[in-house]
Amino acid sequence: MSKIVGMLFGEVGYGDFNFLVSKDASLQKGGYVKVNHENYGWVLAQVCFIKRYNEMYSLSAITGSSQPKEDASDRIVANAKVIGYLDESGFLKTPRIPFKPGEKVYEAEGAIIRKSLNLGIRSGVYLGLLEGQEEASPVYINVNKLIQKHICVLAKTGAGKSYTVGVLIEELIEKSVPVVVIDPHGEYSALKTPNSNPKELALMGRYGISQQGYENIVEYTPNLGLNPQADRKLALDITQLTIGNFLEMLPSKLTDSQKGILFEALKTARSYGKYTLEDLIKIIHAHESKAKWNLITGLEMLRESKIFEGAPVHPTDLVKNGVVSIINLRGIRPDIQELIVARLGSEIFSDRKQGKVPPLLFLLEEAHNFAPERGFGGSLSLGIIRIIASEGRKFGMGLCVVSQRPARVDKSVLSQCNTQIILKVTNPNDLRAISQSIEGFTADLEEEIKQLQPGVALIVGDVVEQPIFVSIRVKKSRHGGASVEVVREPKVVRVPSPSGLLRRLFFG
Ligand SMILES: Nc1ncnc2c1ncn2[C@@H]1O[C@H](COP(=O)(O)OP(=O)(O)OP(=O)(O)O)[C@@H](O)[C@H]1O
Ligand SMILES: [Mg+2]
Repeated sequence: MSKIVGMLFGEVGYGDFNFLVSKDASLQKGGYVKVNHENYGWVLAQVCFIKRYNEMYSLSAITGSSQPKEDASDRIVANAKVIGYLDESGFLKTPRIPFKPGEKVYEAEGAIIRKSLNLGIRSGVYLGLLEGQEEASPVYINVNKLIQKHICVLAKTGAGKSYTVGVLIEELIEKSVPVVVIDPHGEYSALKTPNSNPKELALMGRYGISQQGYENIVEYTPNLGLNPQADRKLALDITQLTIGNFLEMLPSKLTDSQKGILFEALKTARSYGKYTLEDLIKIIHAHESKAKWNLITGLEMLRESKIFEGAPVHPTDLVKNGVVSIINLRGIRPDIQELIVARLGSEIFSDRKQGKVPPLLFLLEEAHNFAPERGFGGSLSLGIIRIIASEGRKFGMGLCVVSQRPARVDKSVLSQCNTQIILKVTNPNDLRAISQSIEGFTADLEEEIKQLQPGVALIVGDVVEQPIFVSIRVKKSRHGGASVEVVREPKVVRVPSPSGLLRRLFFG
């Protein structure tokens, strides 16, 4: 039987209730309780606030207008918001008739919470434990809903976005869901290595997991010189580009005659069947018009990036069941990063529409750079990210948008995300952007987000019956996103020495 934690008192409604907390109860804000309702059976509720009161220190007692009660002890009073009860068909309903004063309040056990909030599907994605519960209560989220309806992971820098995304990827690998990760900082290939962080290893028992590295991680990079550990060079397929793509990509705007030259050159190149950027530049060189030079300079700048050099990587290489393809863009010029996201996004979306690749998750780190809000610069990739956000669901291409600056992410992209995973955010503009993009987002939740502990996330949206706080589980694999120490703290180590003096060893 569950533990009694209090009793309803005073005027009792059906949307929320106050209760006197039992002396030995260890209730926390956000914790779950249940009350037996005479009409509906067990009803789940969540603690909103807890207050402590002592008559000895009441205003009248301390101002001397009434006699202080020597023997008065603390009274703890709490308020809980009703979540609902499950009807015969298993749907969560809210009561319409008030609870009975004097009814006992019990601690809600994991099973009723998970059942009521729809977090118990074992086939789901295991993200962590419900925050604020003494009993470990695992949170499983419906994987189909999560991917089909897009996700955003938002938080200030260092609050745990990439870590949470790492957990999500681990879960998706285990379910054989293909993931393509746009990784501007080269953090995600660490998924190949088991976690060896002693603090995190110590927590694995609580989360019921063990350390593990993953095999099917393929790391691509446009520049193997910068990222030599990558498995394969990323090259884009020039033959997939339309004249419109070239016009978007070239650094300066083309005149009509330059457009004409490019159009003709493309026609000639296509008549070869296969062609390279080099072939295209040669064809344009042979043109007599002086207008060609500006065009050649633009194409040579593209050539310098080497992004069209080598065997092209196709969506069928990147999107495979059980495989995570990491596009490591560390050290790559921002304009080339945008070009890569634009091209890969378009080619994968097109192949997905034609059924050439399986349903997948397209994960975009630093989304504010690839889908910026108006007023924060343009991006070559904005158009396709908007299209994936609005149409991807119909075709089984899920989008996961990750950003530390929600206010700088395109509003239409953010508002298409039906699951929000939010960690600590303090910037008022970012908080506003979050509350504007989420339906029914309350001022209360905004306050909560400002105070979240690292690694604790608020999950809102279609995948949960109501907003929940989750202590994100530790990763099975290594996390690659740790900050770089500018000045390393010297470690003090006791070294036995003839003089018996303490020696300081640095960087030991
Ligand atoms: N759930 C968690 N469990 C344990 N440690 C965590 C968790 N979440 C985050 N951390 C710790 O916090 C650090 C920062 O997390 P992370 O790299 O995910 O931040 P971020 O939000 O992606 O930051 P940035 O915006 O700089 O990329 C990690 O190195 C890790 O040590
Ligand atoms: Mg990060």
